Amino acid sequence: MYKILKAEKLADKIFLMDVEAKRIAKSCQPGQFIIAKMDDKGERIPLTICDYNREAGTITIVFQIVGASTEKMAALQEGDSFRDFTGPLGQASEFVHEDLEILKKKKMLFVAGGVGTAPVYPQVKWLHQHGIAADVIMGSKTKDLLILEKEMKEVAGNLYVTTDDGSYERKGMVTEVMKDLVNNQGKKYDVCVAIGPMIMMKFVSLLTKELQIPTVVSLNPIMVDGTGMCGACRVTVGNEVKFACVDGPEFDGHLVNFDEAMKRQQMYKTAEGRAVLKLREGDTHHGGCGQCE
Ligand code: NAD
Ligand code: FES
Repeated sequence: MYKILKAEKLADKIFLMDVEAKRIAKSCQPGQFIIAKMDDKGERIPLTICDYNREAGTITIVFQIVGASTEKMAALQEGDSFRDFTGPLGQASEFVHEDLEILKKKKMLFVAGGVGTAPVYPQVKWLHQHGIAADVIMGSKTKDLLILEKEMKEVAGNLYVTTDDGSYERKGMVTEVMKDLVNNQGKKYDVCVAIGPMIMMKFVSLLTKELQIPTVVSLNPIMVDGTGMCGACRVTVGNEVKFACVDGPEFDGHLVNFDEAMKRQQMYKTAEGRAVLKLREGDTHHGGCGQCE
């Protein structure tokens, strides 16, 4: 059992939990994820790690209510436990393995959209702890949905906050801020890391392609069981078929076929859609997630 040491509501339908998971906290890296399961019969919920404390042996997760399982999870309180908490899973962010001296010369830009701010935080924090100040753009629909602003301010080089409706700081989407920084403020970036809804990552990647900034995206949103079994996270990257939970979750944003991935994501939600995928793709589309009949 994995005890919840802290449970906090960050915004409407968005929750943060600190979970006691010593083994994961000892070895996890930014970019990786865990799978939480509330009970024996519960759904597996893959969540990108938001923070970790190696000394305290804790993992921080942030999640949004999107269905019955996450709604049930949001009702858990401090002192309650997860039945299973598996990880660290997936590949760590590429920069973790880079030569630190080379990395220090790079200008990095992070684009965090909505709940996607949670997986951006450990990456920016890791860089900060290694003496690298990255610029961060944080976007949310409205002021009330903005999360982890104070935490991000402490680890980012420059933090640019924007809201779609202009209720706080700038008005407009993250791509507007990017254009302003590069085209009007003379900012130059060697790498962009964009994490948020699929549609945001698609448009950030289109823009950075134009601006010639290599870009990494995290495809956590298309995962279902996170085990490499269900096939939900199948995605075309360049000419290759990849699975976000095994080969990723991070990929070259300029090579990801976002339109296909988003279409597949919609189809996977219904039994009929899954049947069509099975017909078209054969057994690679699933193999034991428990979601398919
Ligand atoms: P949201 O819809 O509020 O979008 C967040 C920001 O993204 C917006 O404020 C805007 O600046 C930008 N954005 C949205 N559409 C855009 C477009 N067409 N062009 C340019 N920018 C655009 O985000 P939300 O409701 O918090 O998002 C939840 C989503 O985030 C879910 O789909 C969830 O799966 C995903 N998520 C992703 C990860 C990940 O690892 N990639 C992690 C957690 C959550
Ligand atoms: Fe990757 Fe199921 S989420 S195969």
